[in-house]
Amino acid sequence: MYNEIDLDKIDVNAGPPTEEPDRQYYFMAKCREWVRTFERKNKRLPKSCVVNMGCQMNARDSEKLRGVLREIGYEETESEDADFVIYNTCTVRENANLKVYGRLGVLHGYKKKNPNMKIALCGCMMQEPSVVEKLQKSYRFVDLIFGTHNIYKFAELLWTVLSSDRMTIDIWNDTDRIVEELPIERKYPFKSGVNIMFGCNNFCSYCIVPYVRGRERSREAKDIIKEIKGLVKDGVSEIMLLGQNVNSYGKNLQEPMTFARLLQEVEKIEGLERIRFMTSHPKDLSEELIQVMAESKKICRHLHLPLQSGSSKVLNVMNRKYTKEQYVELAEKIRKAIPDIALTTDIIVGFPGETEEDFQETLDVVRRVRYDSAFTFIYSKRTGTPAASMKDQVPEDVVKDRFDRLLKEVQDISKEMAERFTGTKQLVLVEELNRQMKGYMTGRLGNNHIVHFPGDASMIGQILLVRLDECRGFYYMGSLTEI
Ligand code: 5AD
Ligand code: SF4
Repeated sequence: MYNEIDLDKIDVNAGPPTEEPDRQYYFMAKCREWVRTFERKNKRLPKSCVVNMGCQMNARDSEKLRGVLREIGYEETESEDADFVIYNTCTVRENANLKVYGRLGVLHGYKKKNPNMKIALCGCMMQEPSVVEKLQKSYRFVDLIFGTHNIYKFAELLWTVLSSDRMTIDIWNDTDRIVEELPIERKYPFKSGVNIMFGCNNFCSYCIVPYVRGRERSREAKDIIKEIKGLVKDGVSEIMLLGQNVNSYGKNLQEPMTFARLLQEVEKIEGLERIRFMTSHPKDLSEELIQVMAESKKICRHLHLPLQSGSSKVLNVMNRKYTKEQYVELAEKIRKAIPDIALTTDIIVGFPGETEEDFQETLDVVRRVRYDSAFTFIYSKRTGTPAASMKDQVPEDVVKDRFDRLLKEVQDISKEMAERFTGTKQLVLVEELNRQMKGYMTGRLGNNHIVHFPGDASMIGQILLVRLDECRGFYYMGSLTEI
């Protein structure tokens, strides 16, 4: 594991090594020297702020950025009025981009007060050439821009920025590299995300991810297992295996391996209590996986299975490669094999060409599958994707109306579904102090539901048995109990 490397032993006056990750350790050591000089001059440590704006993969990347900054010696802060601020951006929907431009205006204000402040942008949005052009032209106060493929070079890029006054831009179109063994700072001591693959090959016609995250690359199983063992040793009891499409894990490895087999290997790790994963593409979800889940003691009873649309016609144009019937059949099969499973989903309304009949098909699937919860999205046109140039974009008012109807349906069903666990006793991973109710803790069930119950901070990180006394729609009120 990374922890064994002593940066102070690195000769920063020698040239940088060419091999990774040694090269990054070298630049971390150089940045650390810079931090020491800063501290002597200013009688304080420089402050850094990492802002995560995207999905779970993005959040994991942010932990990597924080790990490097901690190693270098920055003091972490949540305030964006800091010496180094980095936005790890998302670009799945257009409004994510608009938010970034808005917030950059605020950062510019801080920088005027603190001219030595450095502002960095990374993540999916930076992989779009039009974004970088705009930043270069109208946001000259940004110091560093890099993308998703070279995040492992963060220390080196940071050094470039600290030692120069120019705007540094480093965007790669793609990569087949996966650099292991860089520092990571976890948000929670007891649970962690673990990347098992990067990129996506599916090219759903609305989605920008394959363009900004590149082609699918799986990590070697032995590296994944090694990382999880290290995490468990460090106090982690729950892991979330992360990938855009975990069901196609291992297909491009030298020795191909299925996701189900990887899960079986992970299950064997002693001390690991809970396994989650995200996200599954319905087209690749195998019988083998359902079997492994049904038999597992550690895999959580939760499956996120994005539907996107219930209309086979729309699904075809979306390039999802399954029909309504196939999806419903799959969901039924899963519910039969694992009756207490929570099924969740993503749905897009207003995809080009979606008619009221198509929308009714979506409602029909929602009513038949009965999701425990669903993320609903208004279709957002992403330049460069096939759907962006499709005719028949649906008028805004029609989309809004469908969105409201879908949301109501989804919420009514989730409430009813949650009721089925009321009165049961469930194992709960205690995550944090309840922010609203003094003397209460908040924890998560295996099926991803939230429960609040009386307790104290000493319980954080423990897995305890809780009785779900009352269901309040999206969460439960509970009490500690015994078997
Ligand atoms: N518009 C709206 N929603 C989208 N998603 C992906 N691309 C778009 C888009 N262009 C949604 C999908 C995906 C989730 C992560 O984001 O539902 O599953
Ligand atoms: Fe986007 Fe489809 Fe890949 Fe998911 S599977 S990231 S929706 S292209």
